[in-house]
Amino acid sequence: VSPYAKVGGLADVAGSLPTALAKFGHDVRTVMPLYKIVETNPDLKLKTVLSDVKVSINPWWHKRANVKEKQPNGVKTYFIGTDEWFNEVDKSEKIYAPGVDAYLFFAQAVLRMCEELNWIPDLIHCNDWHTGMIPVLLREQANERFSETGILFTIHNLAYQGEFGIDSLDKLGLSRELFDHHRLETYGLVNFLKSGCAYADAVNTVSESYSREIQTPEYGCRLDGMMRHLADNGKLHGIPNGIDQDEWNPATDQRIAANFDADHPQKKAKCREALFKALNWEPIGGAPVAGIVSRLSEQKGMDLILRAAKRIFELPVQIVVQGLGDPWLANEFRKLQKRHPKHFRFAQKFDVQLAQNVYSGCDLFLMPSAFEPCGLGQLIAMRYGTIPVVRATGGLADTVFESGERSAESGQHTTDNRQPTTQGLPSANCQPQTHNGFVFQNRDHNEFADCVKRAANAFANKSEWAKIVDSAMRSDHSWTVSAARYEQLYLKCIMSKRSNEAKAS
Ligand code: GLC
Repeated sequence: VSPYAKVGGLADVAGSLPTALAKFGHDVRTVMPLYKIVETNPDLKLKTVLSDVKVSINPWWHKRANVKEKQPNGVKTYFIGTDEWFNEVDKSEKIYAPGVDAYLFFAQAVLRMCEELNWIPDLIHCNDWHTGMIPVLLREQANERFSETGILFTIHNLAYQGEFGIDSLDKLGLSRELFDHHRLETYGLVNFLKSGCAYADAVNTVSESYSREIQTPEYGCRLDGMMRHLADNGKLHGIPNGIDQDEWNPATDQRIAANFDADHPQKKAKCREALFKALNWEPIGGAPVAGIVSRLSEQKGMDLILRAAKRIFELPVQIVVQGLGDPWLANEFRKLQKRHPKHFRFAQKFDVQLAQNVYSGCDLFLMPSAFEPCGLGQLIAMRYGTIPVVRATGGLADTVFESGERSAESGQHTTDNRQPTTQGLPSANCQPQTHNGFVFQNRDHNEFADCVKRAANAFANKSEWAKIVDSAMRSDHSWTVSAARYEQLYLKCIMSKRSNEAKAS
């Protein structure tokens, strides 16, 4: 949960969606593990709310939990800790290091905490596989107090499912009878993400296109059958992420070299200078500079960058990559910088300040992703007048448009013609789809290089470029519309839980 601990986009969503919901008047509380990096951060000054609570992971295995809290702006965040796992996370790179037992504990501890605080929510919103056992426990270890609590499960990335041996059921005190293809099992293992989806009242992904893509074998990561099943039952939805427009605001951002807005974009030039200075790098006259702030992984299309690099440098376009991840990719980027120092810079780090220089100082922002559930980088870049060049997949296809006429529904990018399963919910894309970026279709490095070339040509035409920057900066990606869609989906979950409950009694 940003700003407490962050590795990727999930933290931004977990930090900003609750704030948007609280503005509607809801009592929203967020729960995350008490990582060492959080506990030892002297600026946070966490307040202890529960200590030494007994959490039974199963009838024979207990842990003691303590819960701390922080409430900066209407949303309480609870941090659950114990004497193992999370207290070993002393840097953000280790956030996903705790093994399966940590998440079994966390699932039990969240429910135990609600009881202890005497705060039983109307709805629990679980995110990604780490929380996949919470819905199972809620329904199978039926505690009467949660009988009216609805559950929404959100998939931020279907590629990470959390698969473990059948003993994880024993460890939670759950019956092995649940280990079947309709509930917890896939390919001989307990699949936490699938379990969460099977027991939730509804499931959503973080863009409409991704909710359709994951129903195909190509994007479904072996769960496409289940995704189609959920969709056929009206249980799979797509709600695009928003960004906190106050946090990402070039007019007020203290981390950038000069403030600017859509009415006065000229000062962006100062941010560009600051970027080159920070990198100790020389601009090539007339060439656009393209940025990447990303986890180094194949998902993010880094292989396409490597393969298209030579053609892109010849345009000429300069590229700066900032990020950590796959050591093979990091090594390739180091070699690329050695071969093309004038055209390429690689900053192998997670550096918030430099990231801000990249977002504000670049002309282009590259996201040639293989798949992208939503993607926040393109939304942030647009806010700072940095024009995205993206592959038409998932949330990229829903937010970046190369021509004004294209609509999210009629886009050529979908691999499946199913209608989005959002009946009864307000539509995501109410805003006009103006030319705010550059888009290519296939995972092909020549198509990508051609797309960068179109962007570079447009950059050379000052008045055309100014129009594109203007529409990008004015695109509205605030949470307002999406938070309202979550509110309605929450209600749907609660109603469906209560009507099932009524039928059962
Ligand atoms: C994951 C996805 C990304 C999405 C983010 C927040 O990191 O890969 O596309 O924006 O979650 O939902």
